[in-house]
Amino acid sequence: MWRSHLARSLHQHRNQPEARFLQLATIGLDLRPRNRTVVFRGFLEDSDRFQDCLKIVTDIRSQKIAQIAANPWAEINWYFTKTRSQFRILGKLTLIDRECQDLELQTARKAAWQALSEAAWLQFAWAHPREPRVDFSEVAPPNPNQPMPNFCLLLLEPTEVDRLELRGSPQNRWIYLRDDKGTWTEQEVNP
Ligand SMILES: Cc1cc2nc3c(=O)[nH]c(=O)nc-3n(C[C@H](O)[C@H](O)[C@H](O)COP(=O)(O)O)c2cc1C
Repeated sequence: MWRSHLARSLHQHRNQPEARFLQLATIGLDLRPRNRTVVFRGFLEDSDRFQDCLKIVTDIRSQKIAQIAANPWAEINWYFTKTRSQFRILGKLTLIDRECQDLELQTARKAAWQALSEAAWLQFAWAHPREPRVDFSEVAPPNPNQPMPNFCLLLLEPTEVDRLELRGSPQNRWIYLRDDKGTWTEQEVNP
């Protein structure tokens, strides 16, 4: 399955923090594509309802939030240099914000906050993103135990994965599809 290949790539790059940067594309409110780099925060573990979900953290004030509310579909693109493999993962995003009433998901949001670095906590205390620049010199440091109100966890639940391995000539490519029951099928295709 694609997850074992992704795990292998992550393992090979375990000493390279930048290997956890991936591109997340959403659909803009104007129906134009929007794309940005985010950090992979691991998979949501031990959930029966949300399977194979990738975790991303973000600020509720960022533009992607309104885009996701209008259209939850997103695609991530992730390239690993050592394994020379590209993963394009299509799926729906679920937003877990401070209002989320689901205990399991709210616990995951809190754990994601606690796992952040000090530098990452501070970003959530900054002034509103994308507004005219202001002076940031007096930002109060957030509480490491309590998520800031604007802190959100995003879950990407994959439904389709396109894996391309550059190694070999011709290269190798697989398409993985998830059905309604959550079962994955795999097909090797031409690159
Ligand atoms: C290396 C790198 C890592 C980033 N990680 C995140 C992240 O984990 N979450 C996030 O929301 N933005 C992250 N950003 C900032 C986003 O790329 C983007 O500027 C921000 O989320 C606002 O995007 P939006 O206006 O489309 O919502 C990162 C940027 C870079 C360059």
